[in-house]
Amino acid sequence: MKAWLLKDFGLENLQLDDVPTPVPSAGELLVKVGAVSLNYRDKAIVDGLYEPAMIPKPLIPVSDAAGTVVATGTGVSRFKVGDRVNSTLYSRWIDGAPGPNEPDYCFGAPLPGGLAEYMIIHEESAVRAPDSMSDVEASTLPIAALTAWFSLMEFGKLQPDQTVLLQGTGGVSIFAAQIAAALGARVIATSSRDENLAKIKLLGAHEGINYRQRPDWDKAVLELTDGKGVDLLLDVAGGNGLNQSVAATKAGGLIAQIGFLSGLQATLDVIPLLFRQTTIRGIAVGHRASFERMNVFLNQHGITPVIDQVYSFGEACQAYAHLARGPFGKVVIKVAE
Ligand SMILES: NC(=O)c1ccc[n+]([C@@H]2O[C@H](COP(=O)([O-])OP(=O)(O)OC[C@H]3O[C@@H](n4cnc5c(N)ncnc54)[C@H](OP(=O)(O)O)[C@@H]3O)[C@@H](O)[C@H]2O)c1
Repeated sequence: MKAWLLKDFGLENLQLDDVPTPVPSAGELLVKVGAVSLNYRDKAIVDGLYEPAMIPKPLIPVSDAAGTVVATGTGVSRFKVGDRVNSTLYSRWIDGAPGPNEPDYCFGAPLPGGLAEYMIIHEESAVRAPDSMSDVEASTLPIAALTAWFSLMEFGKLQPDQTVLLQGTGGVSIFAAQIAAALGARVIATSSRDENLAKIKLLGAHEGINYRQRPDWDKAVLELTDGKGVDLLLDVAGGNGLNQSVAATKAGGLIAQIGFLSGLQATLDVIPLLFRQTTIRGIAVGHRASFERMNVFLNQHGITPVIDQVYSFGEACQAYAHLARGPFGKVVIKVAE
């Protein structure tokens, strides 16, 4: 089969090659890949910035994939040939609390990923792809959508009468705006660009704050919430901005710590955290059971993923370059025509 192989760090070392088509072992599915979508993680892996010591080389990269089961190993009972499935990032995290070593079994690094004509997924880690979505659409769900869903609904237990703040207009925040708005919650979005605030309002956000024009965006949030702050905040920026997130969240409120776009370290002012009794929870995408619940919700509410551009299988490097430029919506690579 044809597969893109990351032979060394750097986009120039991502190369299309011929490799043996994998054969499913007991409990595994052989899936003809329909489409994959890119996340910040995929780019960080190629750039050698994401846990470089745990990246095998060569690696078939990309964690988000959707396709059709074409063969099954012995003992498979959850799926049959012809079913459409999604990959899940944390391939062994089925439900409940995570195990201590979930990152060792991430699909797309260190395990081989989906940027190939065929991929192997264990039947326990596969999720049925929504019937209402094409493979191109479904390929956007495993990381960005599930992270948004898990943060809002499993951790945040967001209610329709509550307010949530979303940082930036990246893949996670766009899905979060769509999901929270469908639930009926009030959504405040931040962005560095007014045009992106206008776009995310069309998807359901009620108010927008330009965090370049308002570097004191936490105060802008308090102005919009009668000085109280939001019930739930999805923090994709990380770094010392976490102190502003604490300030923008109500007393007893919740912060889902998702990303690290502005820094891998944070110097946290402890006293405001204590006074406000804030809960900060690290988020690692989500488990399979949550993915399945999310798909029911997406279907019920007719939520369609926002896709910026679809590339062909041969254009994988252009797709990575597009991700680096900052799309509005997901960047997808259509593997099977
Ligand atoms: N923990 C997890 O499970 C998990 C899962 C998915 C993603 N992540 C992480 O979450 C982050 C976002 O992921 P993504 O896929 O949504 O990325 P993305 O699509 O690349 O989003 C990037 C957007 O984030 C916004 N941004 C950048 N710096 C910001 C800042 N200082 N304050 C507020 N917004 C800022 C920008 O929005 P504007 O252009 O509108 O300003 C930018 O367009 C990444 O760090 C990613 O690695 C973590």
